[in-house]
Amino acid sequence: MQEQDKEKKLSEKIDQLKERYEADGQDLAVHLDGLYHSNYLKYWDYISLETLLSLQKTKTNFPDELIFIVYHQITELYFKMVLHEIKQLCVAKNLQADFFLKRMKRINWYFGHLIQSFDVISVGMEHEQFMKFRSALHPASGFQSVQYRMIEMMSTDFINLVSKDKRSDYTDYSTIDEMYENIYWRHGAIDVKTGKKTLTLKMFEDQYSKKLVRLANKFKTKNLYSLFKRLETDVQQSEETVAILKRFDSYVNINWPLAHYKYAVRFLIKKDGAVPATGGTNWQKYLPPKFQKQIFFPSLYTAQEIEDWGKAWVETEVFGSVEFTPSV
Ligand code: HEM
Repeated sequence: MQEQDKEKKLSEKIDQLKERYEADGQDLAVHLDGLYHSNYLKYWDYISLETLLSLQKTKTNFPDELIFIVYHQITELYFKMVLHEIKQLCVAKNLQADFFLKRMKRINWYFGHLIQSFDVISVGMEHEQFMKFRSALHPASGFQSVQYRMIEMMSTDFINLVSKDKRSDYTDYSTIDEMYENIYWRHGAIDVKTGKKTLTLKMFEDQYSKKLVRLANKFKTKNLYSLFKRLETDVQQSEETVAILKRFDSYVNINWPLAHYKYAVRFLIKKDGAVPATGGTNWQKYLPPKFQKQIFFPSLYTAQEIEDWGKAWVETEVFGSVEFTPSV
């Protein structure tokens, strides 16, 4: 670039800056002075690397516990990105179909990564070490992941999260507070021995119930399912929309839960029977999607598809040879 061109560009930039700062009643000269004195940005400061790497606080000396913590944290960061996308959709004024589908594709992409990467846990952890360090983690459980619950509540109408045997007890006039009593996971977290709520659940409720009910009320009319129902009919029915949303439903409500279940089985079932989970639930009845039938976009499925929810995956993954490959 010629010297003259450079000068011209610079003076244009200064004019733009003046305009921007003046609009906020700010003196550009003071800000330029601040710029002159400030240090260059460093990668490690920008991403808070040292803080990030200080957050893996193991409870035991088993080396593989680090993998367990890191993988949970990675999952939570992905959940954060999913929530970030959902929030953008929910606050969008005059939501356009194109934007909706683009963001849903991103979410699918994130969940695809999570489903595929679950192997990190099985390859990365020796069973013997896991069985020892897990006893130091009671009663904490991934069950207490509040972001997982937020994704569910922001994805669909609340009634779809109610235990499937209780859904018919409610009408369009039922409040979220009423339905929350029977949200599926409160029924799942029952202590195998006593039949009472597990401590894992009680602690989670004390910490998060109020926040979650508030969130569910806020998203009553702007969760993903209700946004979908407000799209133009031809967009709702287009092959592309249906495929993207069905993929989302199946990633969150079948593929991820089953990838997770597969490892719970691998780690918690011994030859002489199952060992209790850290959360103490009857997890073999609770975790498989076919028992819960959580479906975010129920109007997209036939009665038969709902009946067979979760079955196809088991057939291919457990009895067949088809490998799961994530795609949008
Ligand atoms: C060896 C690995 C793992 C095992 C053995 C395992 C086991 C379990 C069990 C048994 C439950 C049922 C609740 C309980 O009794 O504790 C559960 C729930 C759950 N876990 Fe894990 N888990 C593993 C890894 C993970 C990872 C990496 C995450 C990522 C955040 C995670 C997130 C969850 C969530 C969200 C639930 C609740 C699921 C629902 O309500 O449908 N788990 N896990």
